[in-house]
Amino acid sequence: MARQQSRYICQTCGAAHLRWEGQCRTCGGWNTLVETVIRESDARRKVGPGQGSTDRVDLPQSLAGLREAELVRIPTGIGEIDRVLGGGLVPGSVVLLGGEPGIGKSTLLLQAAAGLAVGRASGRADGGAAIPAGRDGVLYATGEESAGQVRLRAGRLGLLEGLPADRISVVAASEVGRIVDLAREARPIALIVDSIQTVTVDELEGPAGSVGQVRECALRLMEMAKGDDIAVIIVGHVTKDGTLAGPKTLEHLVDAVLNLEGERTSTLRLLRATKNRFGSTEEVGVFEMAERGLAEVADPGRAFLAATDEHAPGSVAGATLEGSRPLLVEVQALVAPGGYGTPRRTASGLDANRMALLVAVLGRRAGIGLGSHDVYANLAGGLELDDPGLDLPLCLALASSLRDRPVPRDMVAIGEVGLLGELRPVPGLERRLREAARLGFRSAIVPVSRRGDLPVISGMEVIAVPNLRTAISHAVGAAQAGPSDRNGDHNGDHNGTAPARSSAAAFEARTAGGRDPSRDPE
Ligand code: TYD
Ligand code: MG
Repeated sequence: MARQQSRYICQTCGAAHLRWEGQCRTCGGWNTLVETVIRESDARRKVGPGQGSTDRVDLPQSLAGLREAELVRIPTGIGEIDRVLGGGLVPGSVVLLGGEPGIGKSTLLLQAAAGLAVGRASGRADGGAAIPAGRDGVLYATGEESAGQVRLRAGRLGLLEGLPADRISVVAASEVGRIVDLAREARPIALIVDSIQTVTVDELEGPAGSVGQVRECALRLMEMAKGDDIAVIIVGHVTKDGTLAGPKTLEHLVDAVLNLEGERTSTLRLLRATKNRFGSTEEVGVFEMAERGLAEVADPGRAFLAATDEHAPGSVAGATLEGSRPLLVEVQALVAPGGYGTPRRTASGLDANRMALLVAVLGRRAGIGLGSHDVYANLAGGLELDDPGLDLPLCLALASSLRDRPVPRDMVAIGEVGLLGELRPVPGLERRLREAARLGFRSAIVPVSRRGDLPVISGMEVIAVPNLRTAISHAVGAAQAGPSDRNGDHNGDHNGTAPARSSAAAFEARTAGGRDPSRDPE
């Protein structure tokens, strides 16, 4: 076969150049040239879903006349991964697993490899049938570590004894052509390539990890996946600030993009699908990094609640929904008098712009003036969320920190906050509340629903409030009649709107006793 040539193609205008240059001479775009293999053959065009059948895939057919693609799935045996994939790995699909270096991608995939390989071997009814005939084992191609290092890790994960050890083949290879040849020969159920930043195509001169290399390698792996019906999982290192962005360019090519997230200092890891052609992108998997690899978390609902007994002002529990799974989280805030200059606004795990907006709403609509204070907010457990339902817990945490009065420990808050200081309903309220009740929360502050009904949760008092000011007076008590508290409130929201409660007895109790912080143990 004649050696293929490479050209530098401008990603903006498509002009081809012989050499890399910083600026495209045709369109003037900066940094747009990407090294690309020029093919004489149209080999790539032959590849398409449905290949291998007798259907002519290149002729249009009526929608009614098309055969439905049979979607089989091979379970990895790890429930949380299967959940995120939508039931298991689809043969012939390409999955990109992204995450920061050191977060646990190789660990997770080695464990998944064992599950895939053993499922086949044990003739498991659910897995066995799904695997294309003649497939066996898993091929693990590593360009990051030596085969010996992989063995070391497998030992740590307890995979050296028994079936998995026989059925996972490891090869330290970095040339994608060789990896593809090996896979075609071995015919595994799945090929794992760890990582895309270390594999190269001979025809390209650019270094491993460059956009051209990453894309060409991925294209060849995809060709093989679709043509030979082998599932391919590609690892890609991605950093939060996007400095290793190569894999980002693959996201539209592959069938599914999974991300493994988590804080390096925390042991919790979240597996999320940001794209999935064969399932929902809503589900998350929750893992904990342990001595023997990533373990599924038994009770994900409570995993992100801080485990300490410390109960200080500034901490409020929120309930969020990740796909169909409710998670309870602890929102922490610290408010401190600012020094000179612009006050600081720092948020980790929460959107800092959203927080700045809520600080403004608190000041104007709820009498919580933070204009000259430094404000810090944090989600416990290294979680990163953009659920509007966390607006209310964040606002309550800020108010609680400013007033230095704790919010009752067994209280959870859910709701989006509008610019007028009004509370807006969030989806899945009942599901969130049920999970909170299951985990021992006894009261909840929620927005008044549009229809005026309230979920009735046994063992939990649900307090529906129309606006932020009322929510704050319930959670941290009314303000000590400071005149400044009334300032800036143009909402007229303290006109005696009584909160709705789903528990009448509790209502009597509350109105009799008032909301007295002494009710709280601290
Ligand atoms: P790794 O899978 O190598 O990360 P990635 O492939 O995403 O770069 O995970 C590395 C980290 O995981 C490392 O810091 C050690 C830790 N670890 C455990 O805590 N327990 C284990 O059983 C294993 C294998 C790794
Ligand atoms: Mg790795």
